[in-house]
Formats: sequence, C-alpha cells, structure tokens
Amino acid sequence: MRRTALPWVTAVITAALGAPATGQHATAFDIQDGKRVFETTCANCHGPDGDLIAGIDFGRGVFRRQFTNDELADTIIGGIPGKPMPPNPGMSKEQALRIADYLRSMSEGRAAPANGDARRGRTVFEGKGECTDCHAVHGVGSRVGPDLTRIGAVRRAAEIERSLLDPKAEVQPENRFYKVTPKNAKPIVGRLLNRDTFTVQLLDTDERLRSFSIADLSQHGFDDTPMPAASKKLTSQQIADVVTYLSSLRGEVTP
Ligand code: HEC
Ligand code: HEC
Repeated sequence: MRRTALPWVTAVITAALGAPATGQHATAFDIQDGKRVFETTCANCHGPDGDLIAGIDFGRGVFRRQFTNDELADTIIGGIPGKPMPPNPGMSKEQALRIADYLRSMSEGRAAPANGDARRGRTVFEGKGECTDCHAVHGVGSRVGPDLTRIGAVRRAAEIERSLLDPKAEVQPENRFYKVTPKNAKPIVGRLLNRDTFTVQLLDTDERLRSFSIADLSQHGFDDTPMPAASKKLTSQQIADVVTYLSSLRGEVTP
C-alpha cells in the first residue's frame, strides 16, 4: 500500500515555521487589544477616528487637557461625573491602560516629522547613510535588506523612525535574517527566502542565492538584524529627513 507523505511533511513545516517570535510584538498586541475594546465600547460616541466629540480628537492627539496614561485609564474607568462620558466600573486598570495606549497610538506617526525634508533625506539615504548598501528604492541599491520602494504606503512615519533608531525592536517576520553553519565551515547569514524539511535558501550579504541541504548543516536558525542603528552615523536632523523621504515613497516613480 502506498502511503502519502505529504500531510506529515506539511505538519513538520508548519511546526517549524510557526515557532513564536519571542516577545517582539507584545506592545502591538496591547494596542490591538485596546483598539478592539475602543471599537466596541467607545466608538459609538467618539467615532472610529475618535473625533466626533467637540474639542476632542484622539486621531490627532487633541485632548481638552493634558492627561498622563494613568489619568486616562482612571477617566476611562470612572467616567466624567455629570457628563455623558460613562464609567466602566467592571474594567481592570490593565485593560484601561491598553485603551490609553491605543488612544495614543491613534495620533502617533500619522504625519512625517514637521522638520524633515524629503530631498535632503534622499541625499542622506544614498550617501552618508549608506542605506543603499542593503536597501533598494526603484531598483537602485542592494537586495540584502527589504525593498523600500513602497515603505511609505505600508508603514507610518513613527514605525519607520523606530526601525531606524532601534532596528532590533520590531522586525517584520518576512524580513528576519537567518544563519546557517555548514559542518566544518564558517557561518553564513542572509535573508531567508525559503525553508522546507530538507533545504534552506538564503540571499547572502553579497546578494548571492545560496541553497543548503539541512543534512549538511551543524546549525541553522534566525539571527539578529544586521541593520545598524541610524543614530550611530546620522544627526537627528538627518534622521528626520530620511524618515520624511521614506514616508514619501508610495511606489510611484519620484523625479
Ligand atoms: C455615551 C457616549 C460615550 C462613550 C460610550 C464614551 N465616551 Fe468618552 N466622552 C464622551 C463625552 C461626551 C466626553 C466629553 C465629556 C465632557 O464634556 O467633559 C468624553 C470624554 C472622554 C475623555 C476625556 C477627553 C478630554 O480631552 O477631556 C476621554 C479620554 C474619553 N472620553 C475616552 C473614552 C473611552 C476610551 C471610551 C470607551 C472605553 C469612552 N470615552 C466612551 C462620551 C462617551
Ligand atoms: C547592513 C545592512 C543594512 C543597512 C546598512 C541598513 N539596513 Fe535597513 N534593514 C536591513 C535589514 C536586514 C532589515 C530587515 C530587518 C529589520 O527590520 O531590521 C532592515 C529594515 C529596515 C526598515 C524596516 C523595513 C520594514 O519593512 O519595516 C527600514 C525603514 C530601514 N531598514 C531603513 C534603513 C535606512 C534608512 C538605512 C540607512 C540609514 C538602513 N536601513 C541601513 C539592513 C540594513
């Protein structure tokens, strides 16, 4: 009788690729949870963008007074006595703080930094920043890191800035670096293109496509991002310029 090996192979691959990316998205989870509660409990008065009540616009960070996150959480739990803002007596402080995080995130990074200049940013990106050593925009540059031609359409300015200042903080799963150590040879790192039960394919740091048989490796697994923190090389003005430049990249060809 013939047995089909396919379901077994699929299960192994799923198990291997499904390994959790330790703790990297804890904050994103909190914000996501706050968003869920906001949409079910608050949005019918404040609106999905948080701007339906006069003088309050969460989406643009406009409050009637300065709140700390702690005070925001107390307001969410206690309501505003004598006003239509209702209390939520059953809600835990942690839950209220997650909503406060979400309220903050609604305005964070909607716009590029006010003092940034996209033209100067492009010059820094292609020159002093050495970003094209690893990244390409419209086909110019390297394929070692992710292509940034459409980065402004998929990431908010604050997220781009965070990637520059602290590259290790949050790495998109599809961008994670991989390291293989062949038996009796030096380790090789690169962008993971594909991995199955028997082989691993990488784009190494010289942009060469490399394929390895897992049986020939003594070790293999995810590695830290090779991206250096931009603050080592660039001033805060130059970083603001680069963030503005990258936020402007939406996939259209720029002159
Ligand atoms: C029944 C309508 C209603 C619901 C539901 C509601 N709010 Fe409000 N909220 C208001 C009104 C109206 C005000 C303004 C009160 C005032 O005039 O001081 C307010 C004020 C606030 C303020 C103070 C803002 C400032 O700048 O002073 C915060 C923060 C807030 N709401 C958050 C929330 C959150 C978070 C939720 C969901 C957990 C929520 N609200 C649910 C009606 C509502
Ligand atoms: C040595 C290679 C290298 C250099 C130099 C480098 N990067 Fe990166 N960069 C990467 C890699 C690899 C990733 C993907 C992993 C990660 O997010 O850290 C990345 C990620 C990013 C991201 C996030 C992309 C996303 O999809 O979220 C941005 C934005 C970025 N780089 C911008 C820059 C800028 C601007 C510079 C120059 C100041 C730069 N990088 C220099 C390798 C590099």
